[in-house]
Amino acid sequence: MEPLFSLNPLHLLGKLYLVLTSGDHVEVQILVYEYMVNGNLHRQLFEKEAFLLNWYRRLEIALAVAQGLDYLHSFADPPIIHRDVKPSNILLDDNMSAKVSDFGISKANLDMDTHVSTRPAGTAGYLDPEYFLRRHLTTASDVYGYGVVLLELITGQLSIDHKRLEDYNLVAWFKPRVVKQGIQAVIDPRLGSNFPVEAYEEVAEIAMNCTAFERGDRPTMQFIASKLEQILSGLIPPPEHFQPVSSTFEGKASSMEVSPATSRTGATGEPLLTDIRLESAFNGTTVAPR
Ligand SMILES: Nc1ncnc2c1ncn2[C@@H]1O[C@H](COP(=O)(O)OP(=O)(O)OP(=O)(O)O)[C@@H](O)[C@H]1O
Ligand SMILES: [Mg+2]
Repeated sequence: MEPLFSLNPLHLLGKLYLVLTSGDHVEVQILVYEYMVNGNLHRQLFEKEAFLLNWYRRLEIALAVAQGLDYLHSFADPPIIHRDVKPSNILLDDNMSAKVSDFGISKANLDMDTHVSTRPAGTAGYLDPEYFLRRHLTTASDVYGYGVVLLELITGQLSIDHKRLEDYNLVAWFKPRVVKQGIQAVIDPRLGSNFPVEAYEEVAEIAMNCTAFERGDRPTMQFIASKLEQILSGLIPPPEHFQPVSSTFEGKASSMEVSPATSRTGATGEPLLTDIRLESAFNGTTVAPR
């Protein structure tokens, strides 16, 4: 089987294959993705033992996601906008290396036809408030979602959690606390005191800039990736970083698994191959990248 297409294999979920099966008068096409043995970031942050994601791994994941999104934003003109950056779309391989999934494919048909869209794409807690108000999608909307993911990596808290009462939104919870009380007041308690304070202060600042209300105040993914690279290059991984990470994703591990995200029933019209080209995912949209 030949790969349908392959983007940067490093930080984007790649190796997409097209499987054709035909039954009675029906042809089914299914996208199959590389199987990511450690599941997704949501699972590892909120459902698994925290030691798997020590302070260094969290920064590595933050960098990989930034590089993946930067690639999407930079390699094509107009840029590919992910539109649903969140921990369950960040997958982790057997080395706990992060890959961004679900970019611009599963949501390709949503609100793409009209100039003013009727519903915003994305997930509550990660939605760019400016996009919500203006319905004007830009790469900065991904930066906002990425900023929320950074806040989750720092705090170990969910983006929306009603246990925080009026500060149920993590952005609203985080900003006043870190500004008034410092990083110790917001850091994931599971990290204890065993984390580089200055580095995490810098990451907290990046996260706050990413989640700025005005999109013009947010940095680009390119800037974030180079900043994180610089931060990580000055750090020494903790000893436990080198321990092998077990495969924690339940179920039988295999090298390939059918993704539930996208399967399309064949039609008599144009070939489905063109439907899943990334370029076509953005044809006729109101996307106005910056
Ligand atoms: N290639 C893969 N390897 C391992 N797990 C995967 C893979 N692709 C998807 N998953 C996991 O399968 C589950 C379903 O994915 P799916 O994208 O349908 O839902 P989601 O990410 O929770 O929400 P959304 O539909 O908004 O993206 C998620 O937990 C996702 O992390
Ligand atoms: Mg998904």
